[in-house]
Amino acid sequence: MTKLWGGRFTKRPEQWIDEFGASISFDQHLVEEDIEGSLAHVSMLEKCKILSSEEANQIKAGLQTLLQKAKNKELMFSAQYEDIHLNLEKLLIDEIGPVGGKLHTGRSRNDQVATDMHLYLKKHVQQIIQLTKHLQHVLVEKADQHVETIFPGYTHLQRAQPVSFAHHLLAYVSMFKRDTERFEESLKRIDISPLGAGALAGTTFPIDRYYSAELLGFADIYQNSMDAVSDRDFILEFLSNSSILMMHLSRFCEELILWSSQEFQFIEMDDTYATGSSIMPQKKNPDMAELIRGKTGRVYGHLFSLLTVLKGTPLTYNKDLQEDKEGMFDTVTTIEGCLTIFAGMIETMTVKTDVMESSTKKDFSNATELADYLASKGMPFRQAHEVVGKLVLECIQQGMYLMDLPLENYQAASDLFEEDIYHVLDPKTAVNRRNSAGGTGFDQVRQAILKVKEDLKQE
Ligand code: ARG
Repeated sequence: MTKLWGGRFTKRPEQWIDEFGASISFDQHLVEEDIEGSLAHVSMLEKCKILSSEEANQIKAGLQTLLQKAKNKELMFSAQYEDIHLNLEKLLIDEIGPVGGKLHTGRSRNDQVATDMHLYLKKHVQQIIQLTKHLQHVLVEKADQHVETIFPGYTHLQRAQPVSFAHHLLAYVSMFKRDTERFEESLKRIDISPLGAGALAGTTFPIDRYYSAELLGFADIYQNSMDAVSDRDFILEFLSNSSILMMHLSRFCEELILWSSQEFQFIEMDDTYATGSSIMPQKKNPDMAELIRGKTGRVYGHLFSLLTVLKGTPLTYNKDLQEDKEGMFDTVTTIEGCLTIFAGMIETMTVKTDVMESSTKKDFSNATELADYLASKGMPFRQAHEVVGKLVLECIQQGMYLMDLPLENYQAASDLFEEDIYHVLDPKTAVNRRNSAGGTGFDQVRQAILKVKEDLKQE
């Protein structure tokens, strides 16, 4: 079989070399985008009178047939024809005869592949934005049910200060909101057409790049043809945004895994998202959360892989760029899957509010309340810290908590202490009094929930 580019060759490459260079095994994901791009290109050629309407119509009909066959999974591709572009061109010529060879007038695979990638990412980034918004929605609904659920807040994974469980969930909503914004912002740079940049330098044909861009729904065109075919920043940005998103999911998964353990028992995963052990009958493992945490690694890997591929490539197109695809496809599949599973996991988990609340009664996370109490009565905070530190030590030595220490002991430490300290020490009071902006006080949390719901509704 001769190559579509075989004219200047005297020898055909061997089959295994063909296979090594081929990308069809993975770039067939782009089949619909490639046909879509070709349809716009041929319409533009017709409008600019580079092809006659008769030729253009024949080509369009052929492309429509291929599109239908692609949707029905009826197209047969071959490594012989290297990639999705050459495979489709060959199939088109088989379908409609030599006029199919006119499709490639005024374009190159270099602008063609870049166009396909832009179309593909635009579609998927829009889907991912919807999924990140859905996740925020699920979280804020959960938060709404737990404004007054008292939860131990940690620093250094040591009990720090009690918080509202809703406040903890809303912290993640803020992260996912930033992720959503990053994806939205990146669309500006994805929504640009490289089509018509040719191999690197533009073309001698009187094409209209704005027209094909408009047909494809792109907001703008690349201004420099060399940049158009070399640029993979938009993919890097996607991988980078995805890595940050995965990092957030992974941190949350780490917490869910801890909270599901016998040691914490703060939540229980729904059976759908857990698995048993083949040997230990009692086990209920949080597999899905672990898997999402694990998959974070592969997304980071794809980011690093593409950064490394790009660092040494001179302008403009180099075959190295073919390595941009598998990581991008895999990242799309990975994050779409992770976001869907994760939202389901949150929606269905059981929150053990009693365990959370009672755990805050058996720790010293209310110690700051006492120090603040003394400070509000005029004692310098540093001195108050010292006094309360000694009281904590006294409790530890006597095997009790601050709530159990008699008033005499408090008054021996400072005559500023009065009976109302027991109310102040109650974790619920402690949480509710933290009403500074962005704090965990119930009013603040309720306001935050309203704000998130508003924002989600507006978009
Ligand atoms: N399969 C190639 C890729 O993915 C398409 C562009 C090929 N261009 C070329 N001049 N060899 O990068």
